[in-house]
Amino acid sequence: MSTANRIEHLRHMRAQAQLGGGEERIRRQHQQGKNTARERVAMLLDKGSFRELDPFVSHRSTDFGLEDNRPLGDGVITGYGTINGRLVYVFSQDFTVIGGSLSETHAEKICKVMDMAMKSGAPVVGMNDSGGARIQEGVVSLGGYAEIFLRNTLASGVVPQLSIIMGPCAGGAVYSPAITDFIIMINETSHMFVTGPEVVKTVTHEDVTFEELGGAYTHASKSGVAHFVADSEEDSIFLMQELLSYLPQNNLEDPPYSPTSDDPVRQDPELDQIIPDHPNQPYDMHEVIQRVMDDGRFLEVHKHFAQNLIVGFARLGGRSVGVVAQQPSYLAGVLDINASIKGGRFVRFCDAFNIPIITFEDVPGFLPGVAQEHGGIIRNGAKLLYAYCEATVPKITVITRKAYGGAYCVMNSKHIRGDLVLAWPTAEIAVMGPEGAVNIIYRRQIGAANDPESERARLVAEYREKFANPYVAASRGYIDDVIEPHETRPRLINALEMLRNKRDTNPYKKHGNIPL
Ligand code: HXC
Repeated sequence: MSTANRIEHLRHMRAQAQLGGGEERIRRQHQQGKNTARERVAMLLDKGSFRELDPFVSHRSTDFGLEDNRPLGDGVITGYGTINGRLVYVFSQDFTVIGGSLSETHAEKICKVMDMAMKSGAPVVGMNDSGGARIQEGVVSLGGYAEIFLRNTLASGVVPQLSIIMGPCAGGAVYSPAITDFIIMINETSHMFVTGPEVVKTVTHEDVTFEELGGAYTHASKSGVAHFVADSEEDSIFLMQELLSYLPQNNLEDPPYSPTSDDPVRQDPELDQIIPDHPNQPYDMHEVIQRVMDDGRFLEVHKHFAQNLIVGFARLGGRSVGVVAQQPSYLAGVLDINASIKGGRFVRFCDAFNIPIITFEDVPGFLPGVAQEHGGIIRNGAKLLYAYCEATVPKITVITRKAYGGAYCVMNSKHIRGDLVLAWPTAEIAVMGPEGAVNIIYRRQIGAANDPESERARLVAEYREKFANPYVAASRGYIDDVIEPHETRPRLINALEMLRNKRDTNPYKKHGNIPL
């Protein structure tokens, strides 16, 4: 064959690989409101930056008629490119090729980019759209999944791993995205479940739709599996690009600096008005976060799950920070099982990737109740405590109002290596709220009084006067300073600067034993 013919042959093969499962299946994909795997990669990466790997890989099956159907690429597009000029590795499952099902070779392609990402220290973005294990391949396909799970686990905490679910993701396949750091789902078009509605119906006789069982909002609000919900594929890509902008390439780098015109010494007098006079009245902690952070921007993670705790990314003086904050306007900002799990995982992510943690605290304590106790608030609350304790990144706390009981200790107190703990003058720091405390320590005195109710009110007022302020803690050095709310932004930026070269380590160990 002449060189010209060989080049022509290569071009022909490339054109064939580009077509995936063929025009008819591409049309069907579009009809369902979905883009193809290639279109998704093109949307995600900087224009012209994508370099594909393994376009000529095909499967090795010889059973069930697959020997006559060997599409090039085998149902997944893999390679690398840039997002805002920064290297990322990608894989994008191609539903037009045998339902995006995962064969041995499909898995090998994914493993190859994961191995390369680990070597060069760059994030991996996976776009999932697959019918799961390629049924015709049986255990070989299961082995392929297991190889991916192992790599997901080894890469965890080394390079960011991010998933967008863009179609079905069912059975054991869900466990790959589940190990990654963040999952974006798309309303109406993406579904995740271990067993689908039909199996559920057979086993438990429950009638449930795909969307109810494993749709985006179900996983974002009920199970906590999804961290973000996007309204469309385009929206999910923007979200992914924004998320990456806050993250370093790997665990040995600091997150990127992003210049801002927002003045680092900007003060905000509105913050002086934000805490209501009555201690049980709610306010919106989002407003505090937005007023303090660069340009009022905040990328909220797990927005629909455990809304009593807010977590997400922002920037202060151009530097990425992870924000953890109680939301007093939802369940009074109490710590419950889901909030603890949500906060614990987020704190660990930030710590793994050198992202300083800013905590805004207004917490009346852990949520009482049989359901919480039986559900394991002890075991689960301990996750957040453990995560804060082990974190060695700069950790700064602002106590805006309540810091009661065990929750005071948990929320990055000085005792668990909080680097700087600031309080607003509205802070109330004590072992428990005034009503509960008085009922316990003055039970007999109240019972013996002529007018028990007015005696109780008098004692509550006395207790509040004594403890519902930041000065007892400040006199011990448990709080580094009491600041006026309007100075919060400049104080935090200054503290981050002061902590820029912070070094702290944990004792050598194989790994800790976080109460999972
Ligand atoms: C082989 C598959 C496949 C699979 C889909 N296809 N899933 N081929 N293995 N797992 C093929 C279909 O036969 C079909 O081929 C084409 O892909 C498109 O699928 P459709 O069914 O026409 O598409 P749609 O109607 O949109 O339905 C999508 C679907 C459905 C809901 C995902 O295909 C489905 O239920 N698939 C099986 C899901 C499943 O049970 N997977 C195994 C799970 S167990 P033709 O040629 O007819 O167009 C598992 C274990 C993993 O994954 C364990 C890891 C540890």
